[in-house]
This record gives sequence, structure tokens and C-alpha cells, in this order.
Amino acid sequence: MIVKSLRLSNFRNYPAQELHLPPGLIAFTGDNGQGKTNLLEAICVLATTKSPLVERDRELIRWHERAARLYAEIELSAGRGDARRLEYNWRVEGNSIAREMKIGGVPQSAVADWLGQLQVVAFFPHDLELLSGEPEERRRFLNLELGKTQPAYFADVARYRRALQQRNALLRHLIDSRIQKTAPGDEKGTLGEWNRQVAGYGSRILAARARFFSELTPILTQIHAKLSGQDEPFSIDYLPGLSILKGTVYEGGGFSAPFHASLERDHADDMRRGITSSGPHRDDMVFKLGAMDLRRYGSQGQQRLAVLSLKVALAHWVEQSTGEPPILLLDDALSELDATRRALLLEEARSFPQSVVTATDATFLNDAAAIYSVAAGRIVPQENAPNSEIGVGNSQKTPELAF
Ligand SMILES: Nc1ncnc2c1ncn2[C@@H]1O[C@H](COP(=O)(O)OP(=O)(O)O)[C@@H](O)[C@H]1O
Ligand SMILES: [Mg+2]
Repeated sequence: MIVKSLRLSNFRNYPAQELHLPPGLIAFTGDNGQGKTNLLEAICVLATTKSPLVERDRELIRWHERAARLYAEIELSAGRGDARRLEYNWRVEGNSIAREMKIGGVPQSAVADWLGQLQVVAFFPHDLELLSGEPEERRRFLNLELGKTQPAYFADVARYRRALQQRNALLRHLIDSRIQKTAPGDEKGTLGEWNRQVAGYGSRILAARARFFSELTPILTQIHAKLSGQDEPFSIDYLPGLSILKGTVYEGGGFSAPFHASLERDHADDMRRGITSSGPHRDDMVFKLGAMDLRRYGSQGQQRLAVLSLKVALAHWVEQSTGEPPILLLDDALSELDATRRALLLEEARSFPQSVVTATDATFLNDAAAIYSVAAGRIVPQENAPNSEIGVGNSQKTPELAF
């Protein structure tokens, strides 16, 4: 798919910006702090409803403004359906922010219906934390990427989270009532029910993640070999967070039996601590180059190339699993690569119907389909760019941008 047009109104440092984008490789260049990352963030928010960079929606609204809006027209590959119009509105209401999402002008209430309308795979410099950061980062990554392509997974995560909260609350209640020597009543039976739900939804999440890794690995190894020019295979090991399987790499098989066995084995521990020791909320993954753990021993450059390979591989995986190629967004990915790797990464980017890159200068981007300059929240086509007639509007008072 491609983004045909994009409008930003009071989003971050953009007062009012309209863009008509061509297919192919598109570059946004400009000095630091001008709005390049903000633009890619806007496309991500339209894709997922959430900023990949900040928790609070308030930060997305332009300073001193009380409302913001994003609008995009998405075109699918030939024969895959009509163009899509996505719209996102924020409005400050007292201490909170009211959000409104529309598809084709129709308000949407379920995030699940929204996910997948616009498929993007994005790299931001902070994504290096996927590799170097805490396991929680990696689980968030899995939930987002699988949720974007599989509505059933998204629903399972919500149900699992609820069941887990209920189980933990009950465990703490049982601990309290034991301390106060009040009879816990038939709550043992309730615990059995939460165990069944936690293991049931949890097993499905574990299975979806295991399948994801088995489908992704061949693509990952191939892309990394191409980008790095090295033989050492890059892979990601999946470590399911079940105490029975602890410390072992997942090698296949179902999860229901090991999940129940883990809950049984953890029982005394869980009853003492009031938490659930086993489950996909304890999953992790290990990035490996050959046998080497990249998190511990990889150089900065090796880690960067691994995360970039993961993103490109993911984009191919999204195409494989949805039948529609996503848009690849690369924020500041080029500057720290050597010339060979930069050229190879751009070649990969060009294999998608549309890809968007940002850079502080356009030196390596001469053959892009369009190059834009970004300065202080204004975007203009760069002079001498091959397609400088590409439409851009940044009138302060575009009528359809008004609320
Ligand atoms: N909510 C906001 N309102 C107005 N300006 C903002 C807001 N959030 C960030 N900015 C400004 O956006 C700029 C950063 O833009 P960014 O896209 O990160 O730049 P870069 O071109 O380096 O990627 C900063 O100057 C920052 O002050
Ligand atoms: Mg930036």
C-alpha cells in the first residue's frame, strides 16, 4: 500500500501541512529538530493509534493548541480494494484528551477495526533498545507487530491481561485473608477458573509468538546476510516465559500442557508473592549472530544492523501474512551506516511500493522518487529533485483543516 496524501494540523510542530506523496522511495531531509521524526511519527500514529515515541497523546498536540488532526488517503495494491481515508482527531477537554478515529468518515470505537487499515513498519533510532533494553520492550514489540496483523492475537492479549490481573488480585486476597485468618471460602475454585483462563489465552499468545519467530527467522537471516555481507547467520531465539521451559529455546510443540505444569510448579511461590510467575508476560527473545549474544557482545554497528534487518524482515513478513506490502519508514537510519550498507538498505527500501526515509542531508538520496526539505514544521519539495512538482500545501488556513 502507499500513502497518497497526508494532512497534519497542529500535530507536533506542524501548524498545517498537506502533502501528496508519490510511490517509491521518498526522502525528508533537514537539520535536527525541524520535524522529520514528527512526520514519521504521524504516519505511525495513523497506522496504530499510538505514538511509538511517547505515552501521552497531549505531547502530540502542538504547543498552545487545544486540538490536532491527522488525515491520510491510503491506496492499496491493484485489485485489493478501494482507497481508504483515515482521520484522527484529538481535542483537549479539561484535564483529558478526547480522541476520535474515523475510517471513510465513519467514527470507529474499536482499535481492533483500525489496526491493519494502514500497515507500516518503522525504524526509529530508539528501536535499538529492542535489542539492548529490558524484556518488556521486546514483549511490547511482539504485541504491537502481531496485533497489527492478527486481530485474534490482539483480542487474546486483552483477555489474557484481564485474566492475569484477576488471578493476581485473587492471590493477594488469599494472602491477606490467610494473614487475617479469615476463611477464603470457595475462592480456591475461582483460582482454578483463572488458572484455566490464564493458561488458555496465554497458550494462544505463546503459540502465535512461536509461529511468528519460525516464519520470520528465514527472512531475517537472509536479509541480514544481504545487508551485512557476512556469512554468520543472524537469528532471534524465542524464550517462552514458562518455568517448566525456563532457560530453554523453544523447539516446537504445544503450550497448554507446559503452561498448566508451570502453574502447578509455581503454585507455592505464586501464593507467597501474589504474582503469576509463568506466562507470556515473562517471554523474552535473544538476538544472536552465529552463537554470539548480540546484546552482550555485539558492537554498536552490529546491533544497529541487526535491528535494521529485523525491521526490513518484518516488513516482508507483514506482506507474506497479509498479502499487502506495508510502507517502510526509516528514521535517521542511514547516517551511521557505511556507504555499502547504506546503498544496500536503500535498495531494500526500494523493493516496497513506498518507503520513507529521513536524513540530515540528501547526499545519498539522489535517485529518490521525491525529496522534501523540512524546516520548522514546514515541508517543501527540494529544488532540483526529480519530482519537484509533487504537490505540497502548507497554507495556514486550508479550509478542510479547520475544526
Ligand atoms: N507538541 C509539540 N508542539 C510543538 N513543537 C513540538 C512538539 N513536540 C515536539 N516539538 C518540536 O519538534 C521538534 C523536533 O522535531 P523532530 O521531528 O524530532 O526533529 P528532527 O527533524 O530532528 O527529526 C523540536 O523542535 C520540538 O521542539
Ligand atoms: Mg529526528
